[in-house]
Amino acid sequence: MRETDLPQSSMPDATTQMKKPDARDAVRALRPSQIREVANAGFGVPDVLPFWFGESDRVTPAFIRDAASAALASGATFYTHNLGIAPLRETLARYVSALHGPTSADHVAVTSAGVNALMLVAQLVVGAGDRVVAVTPLWPNLVEIPKILGADVDTVSLVYGKSGWQLDMERLLAALTPDTKLLMLNSPNNPTGWVMTRDEQRVVLEHCRRHGIWIVADEVYERLYYAGEAGESAPSFLDLAARDERVICVNSFSKAWLMTGWRLGWIVAPAALMDDLGKLVEYNTSCSPAFVQQAGIAAIEQGAAFTRELVGDLRASRDHLVRALSAVPGVDVKAPPGAMYVFFSLPGASRSLELCKALVRDAGLGLAPGSAFGPEGEGFVRWCYACDPARLDAGVQRLKAWLERQDAARG
Ligand SMILES: Cc1ncc(COP(=O)(O)O)c(C=O)c1O
Repeated sequence: MRETDLPQSSMPDATTQMKKPDARDAVRALRPSQIREVANAGFGVPDVLPFWFGESDRVTPAFIRDAASAALASGATFYTHNLGIAPLRETLARYVSALHGPTSADHVAVTSAGVNALMLVAQLVVGAGDRVVAVTPLWPNLVEIPKILGADVDTVSLVYGKSGWQLDMERLLAALTPDTKLLMLNSPNNPTGWVMTRDEQRVVLEHCRRHGIWIVADEVYERLYYAGEAGESAPSFLDLAARDERVICVNSFSKAWLMTGWRLGWIVAPAALMDDLGKLVEYNTSCSPAFVQQAGIAAIEQGAAFTRELVGDLRASRDHLVRALSAVPGVDVKAPPGAMYVFFSLPGASRSLELCKALVRDAGLGLAPGSAFGPEGEGFVRWCYACDPARLDAGVQRLKAWLERQDAARG
């Protein structure tokens, strides 16, 4: 055997340059979650009241869990069609048609919840170097997902005033230049609770049509809307847009049916995109679990009364929290028209990450810092009110006592 035939050692010698095991630059540049950073600061604190995540403290309703159990018992354990089982797509098409006008199953794709839907639509329409515009403050995933694909994201900030958060339409239209590929909007909005009006949607849609700009509307909170008639959903781009134009709406079972852990959502998009979308689903998740999709049918078909009641409870919790916070000196809070958060300012919130870490450590109160939702959210904190009012009261008491201690320490 010649020396060169000997197996090479897997250990590099001193002269070999090892490449560092780095992720791509675009991935390393992603913002880590500041909510997680606050939660980490609370490790070891025995009694924390957590209001930081966007999730109810209630379990998924029994009729949905039962439907999943029955589907499992009947053997729904196999892969499904990439775009979802036909009965769920048809059920969703009927649901969307009733809320927003005629929509066929050809325009509906089932996804593994809202996050996966956002990733899929980003993969579908944006690539490296594309310009994306997002309206902020905003749940970070919408801003970070296009960056994973190498896109550049510019933000347009909502403006906070006497009547809460408002869109500066002039600024948004100025940012939507003809070289923009995609506008990402989330209404009702996480974290501010801002809801885009139908007139605003009309203006933005016309502008994007003129310039060929795609709109991705994240409408996962559309049912959590308090400004209209009972049961009315928030204004949707689906009310205005034709189904075959450059408008894609993302939705989820997580919020209106309390199914966060199930990972089930859907997309309404032009039928012409569905073959390509199916390929992306194949290479991401292949499909959503069959028994979870069956549970989704039960949620839609039997869930109307449940959602109506949930929205009533959330509205009561929102009003309860806003009333209680309004009585705390130094707090500036307004009741937002949608979603399940109060986004408010208080003394010390100009450094919201530090404030939230101190609150969790020293007061046992878990809030999300406004800066987690972009620099535009600095000066505010987010409180998820999807829990029972007694818990909200206990949280407000902790906040009040902590602020008093701060005042006393300052003399
Ligand atoms: C604005 C927004 N979009 C999408 C989602 C996605 O939720 P899920 O992936 O559970 O459907 C969330 C979750 O909090 C959200 O706040």
